[in-house]
Amino acid sequence: MSKTKKPKDTPSVSRRNFLKAASMAGGAISAAGLIVAPRDRAKAAPRPIPTPLGPGPVEVTLDINGQKHVLRVEPNVTLLEALREHLGMTGTKRICDHGECSACTVLIDGRATCSCMTLALDVQGKKITTIEGLAQGKTLDPLQKAFIDHDAFQCGFCTPGMILSLKATLNKHPHATPEQIKAAVAGNYCRCGALPNILKAGNAVAKG
Ligand code: FES
Ligand code: FES
Repeated sequence: MSKTKKPKDTPSVSRRNFLKAASMAGGAISAAGLIVAPRDRAKAAPRPIPTPLGPGPVEVTLDINGQKHVLRVEPNVTLLEALREHLGMTGTKRICDHGECSACTVLIDGRATCSCMTLALDVQGKKITTIEGLAQGKTLDPLQKAFIDHDAFQCGFCTPGMILSLKATLNKHPHATPEQIKAAVAGNYCRCGALPNILKAGNAVAKG
């Protein structure tokens, strides 16, 4: 029976020998795999200790649909909770609350993002767009209009997330292909069977 040959360039230093050599050298092994002498470690400047946040409420400023909102929330409050429960913006929907259905999709700096998986604290200084921010006064966004024209919703629970996922793709690719439109909502679940009409609406906007 033939044995598997060891490639010529395989290093012959085993993990055990490496650790042994390191301890004999009186050093320590850093996370990057470097040997750092104790005296060098002593010389290193002390790292600043970050100020802990919470557990009580902290001030958070969110830029939502072009408007600044200052609120006080616990550090573990998600963007979805901040929108719905602290700001009364209930257009963003909660279904799974676990990053699985994409009903809670909003745009963060133009990227479709699940707001149930995003801490409000982490999106300070970023531009957040929710479904409430799409229409310009009484003029609907072309996607919103296309959803109506193509009868692309039933219960409507998935609709804001679907529209914002499509919006992110169409902003990047105004003439998105049917494949790109399909991929845009691949992570969004519709339990009412409206997906074929949702795709028709997205494709209609892509075709102008
Ligand atoms: S509610 Fe956020 S992914 Fe389902
Ligand atoms: S329209 Fe009801 S879940 Fe999509």
